[in-house]
Amino acid sequence: MASFIVNGQEVSPSKNQKLLRFLRDELHITSAKDGCSEGACGACTVIIDGQTCKSCVPDTDSLAGKNVITVEGLSDWEQKVYTYAYGKAGAVQCGFCIPGMVMCTKAFLDVNPEPTDDEIRYALRNNYCRCTGYVKIMDAVRLAAKILKEGVLPDDGDPSWTLGSRVSRIDVEEKVLGTGKYPDDYYPEGMLYGAALRSKYPRARVLSIDTSAAEALPGVEAVVTADDIPGENKIGHLKHDQYSLIPVGGLTHYLGDAIALVAATDMATVEKAKKLIKVEYEVLPHVHTVEEAAAPDAPLVYDEEETNVCAYKHISRGNAEEAIKNSKYVISHHFETPWTEHAFLEPECAVSFYDEDGDIFVYSTDQSAHQTLHEVTLMLGTDKVKVQNALVGGGFGGKEDMTVQHLSALLTYVTKKPIKMKLSRAESLLVHPKRHPFYMDMTMGCDENGVIQGVKAIVKSDTGAFASLGGPVLERACTHAAGLIIMKTLKLKELLTIQITHLPEHSADLVLHRLVSQQRHF
Ligand code: FES
Repeated sequence: MASFIVNGQEVSPSKNQKLLRFLRDELHITSAKDGCSEGACGACTVIIDGQTCKSCVPDTDSLAGKNVITVEGLSDWEQKVYTYAYGKAGAVQCGFCIPGMVMCTKAFLDVNPEPTDDEIRYALRNNYCRCTGYVKIMDAVRLAAKILKEGVLPDDGDPSWTLGSRVSRIDVEEKVLGTGKYPDDYYPEGMLYGAALRSKYPRARVLSIDTSAAEALPGVEAVVTADDIPGENKIGHLKHDQYSLIPVGGLTHYLGDAIALVAATDMATVEKAKKLIKVEYEVLPHVHTVEEAAAPDAPLVYDEEETNVCAYKHISRGNAEEAIKNSKYVISHHFETPWTEHAFLEPECAVSFYDEDGDIFVYSTDQSAHQTLHEVTLMLGTDKVKVQNALVGGGFGGKEDMTVQHLSALLTYVTKKPIKMKLSRAESLLVHPKRHPFYMDMTMGCDENGVIQGVKAIVKSDTGAFASLGGPVLERACTHAAGLIIMKTLKLKELLTIQITHLPEHSADLVLHRLVSQQRHF
């Protein structure tokens, strides 16, 4: 195997592999983050012989004699400068992208100590940040350049905080230097890797599952199906409508449904074993849209339900009908917002193990750890469960539901060993729910000054395969449909019915202009 230098030490990987895998899995260098494994996001950026490189791209065999630097290999002075600059600029939020940004900043400022804004933008062009919007990261690069040039950290005076003080986040240092731990940064002794075989069809009945060939594969420690779940199979935050694992006889509801789990000594074996699991399906017709689901002859998404409607909300206040009738101008329009992927930089990951109390302990990266605890407890049929959120590399609403936490816990329950279950980027995109698309028919009436008098809206939303938080999201859409401006100035007048009224084009422009002005004002 090729030998090369990492942070001043000569190293020899045990096998040819991606540099990122070697840094993380063998050296346990946690600053290089695995956001995509596809050379896209830049979270794993390191410096190789002075040039930035996404470490998920090169094979270790191609690095003979090269010099690799990660954040851990920066000098004390550099670590202080980047921690100060990124903290002071407010450039650190979830932090998952930051060590990669720092390595880009270093490689760039080493050769261009007085950069222009365009040069900074160009230098960071290959690194994504989902949280900050880049403005503050650019501020951090400018500030780092200034400090490196002056050779001294600014004196910020009295460090004690008072109300209204401008202070850096308390977790800046661990996020800039990569010492803070997201679940993927845990490597408990004897850890196995876990992954799920997903459904081949969005809607199908599972007729049989044969795991024998997968179980016989060397390196495989367990292949788990719904029969191995000791408690409730179905989970869900508000409605228990999602199978943890689809049982024989059960219906799949989307391509992200898990059929079986594999635990093995390495990910390559896990992937090989998944291909050896044989599943027989009865493929059934499915629905993709609100219209298809609402059609009179639509197949029912759930065996046990009589309708495909997940939730219905009707909110009214005042007499919108009357208010609109008495309005000087009335405008009606259809609006749509699409499915939206949250695109958090950190894919879902959980690490679980038995702790010293004999409890199953889960490190999670989610937006509702208490709910995770509740659902893992439900699925395992025991309250000897602990859940602790590690750092969360962004969520934005996309890490509300269970994805890997309960499945990792189940594998630990079966194997009695520590498990890491992490979604690939493609799997993450497939599995977690998206922001609900909305289809809105709105009618608004206003007076001669453009002040809104009444609003009526019919709002339809697609919650996807599962109820998840679809009901509350719909309710919020309804309560917000008339907007803050109306509640504050005009008293909310809205009703969930539909009315189509036409308006001359120039009047419509006037109304929209007024609406935008008022939104800005408030
Ligand atoms: Fe950049 Fe969260 S701070 S992705």
